[in-house]
Amino acid sequence: MTINNISPNKLFSSSILKYPVDTSILGKVNYVNLDNAATTPPLKVVEKGLSKYMINYGSVHRGAGQKSKISTDMYEDSRRIIKSFVNAPTDSYVLFTGNTTGAINTASYFFSFLKGKIAVSSIEHSSSWLPWIKAEGIKALGGQQNTFNEMDSVNEQIQFLGRRQVLQYDVNENFEFDLTTIENLLKKNHIKVLVLTASSNITGYCPDIKKIGMLAHKYGVYFLVDACQFLQHHKIDMKEMGIDFLVASGHKFYAPYGGGFLIGPKNFLDSFLPYQIGGGNLPYITKTGEFLRYRNQLAHDPGTPNAIGAVTMALALEQIKKIGVEKINQYETGLTNKLYDALKKNPNVEIFVEKNKLGTVIPFRIKNMDSNEVAERLNSEYGIGVRAGSFCAYHVIRKLLGIKNDSNIIEAVKHGNTKTIPALIRASISLCNNETDIERLIKAINKITTRI
Ligand SMILES: Cc1ncc(COP(=O)(O)O)c(C=O)c1O
Repeated sequence: MTINNISPNKLFSSSILKYPVDTSILGKVNYVNLDNAATTPPLKVVEKGLSKYMINYGSVHRGAGQKSKISTDMYEDSRRIIKSFVNAPTDSYVLFTGNTTGAINTASYFFSFLKGKIAVSSIEHSSSWLPWIKAEGIKALGGQQNTFNEMDSVNEQIQFLGRRQVLQYDVNENFEFDLTTIENLLKKNHIKVLVLTASSNITGYCPDIKKIGMLAHKYGVYFLVDACQFLQHHKIDMKEMGIDFLVASGHKFYAPYGGGFLIGPKNFLDSFLPYQIGGGNLPYITKTGEFLRYRNQLAHDPGTPNAIGAVTMALALEQIKKIGVEKINQYETGLTNKLYDALKKNPNVEIFVEKNKLGTVIPFRIKNMDSNEVAERLNSEYGIGVRAGSFCAYHVIRKLLGIKNDSNIIEAVKHGNTKTIPALIRASISLCNNETDIERLIKAINKITTRI
């Protein structure tokens, strides 16, 4: 099937799309991946480009041989391609990390040296929230000497002190950000960085990045955007949107080879010692262990880098650019709308997003059924992969489900019972899906609900 000239068959290898699975109801079928917000399969061009890169593979930034030179050039080229894809300011660095989590941990380390608090939105993934608490907590704790036995209380203290430094701004009753709420927070507190996810990993809600960025800058606050659920579906432009720091993960945009990145301003990043240090990211070490520093991107490239991660991210972004992100968005939202309309007709399905705010994810549950169990059945009976759970965004899930008091959940989890943790089912769509995938899920849900 081709819509808008987009056809998954052309973009992904057939061994990925025609992955056979045995199911108890449909027999042997091709696996349907509707868990793309968790991770995505590699594009065909990425697989091919990777094979080519492997032929040339040699040590990056360390060797004089031909393979080292080619590998280093391709690695460095990846930074340029990524930078251009997101229209990063010329004087910004692209630092490679393992994923978005690694990128935010890196950023939180740098910011922990600066005075002020962090403002994090209430719809963040925990990866965009907890690293700030930890880094700020460690800083606030100072350099105490402790024995190993004291670490439990030290860990608690780190969390306690860190939480005081990391403030949250919430969405309103329509699940949107009010600029006045954010402005009040910025007015009343000395905030050093405002953190915002460009797209909720549960509802797909995309806040007005540009307006919020302008507000941050009005108060002299850095603006960090988590684009890992966004840049594969929507146009991102750091300059236009006023984004100072941008993070994302390759595995969410068809390059699942352990690459991620943090983009940020050169003058900011040059000021700090690197997050990780060892070999490769410094030019010289004296007899006494004093190390001389680079003031460039290399300073933030500790050890032998994950060149495959970097090169594959660049290959994927080039392909996305070639197809056109607007076209991709139309294709994906066409499929999401079809799924939404069908699920909406089923009286046993509760959907947790409004149609006018629909992105490429649909959070839902089936009345009187355990969401984890439904997800298991979709896999074992119908060969469909979705995810069930809280999706590391507990504020969002509590809000969606109207959970005001979670003391029972906390108590149960402390006693090892995780069954009470709130869960929804999330179907998430990408370029690898087609109408047949959507039809399979609709039929499966209708079948499962006829037996309630
Ligand atoms: C919005 C958001 N931020 C951060 C992350 C963490 O990404 P990673 O697991 O690649 O570090 C995720 C992962 O699902 C996410 O959805």
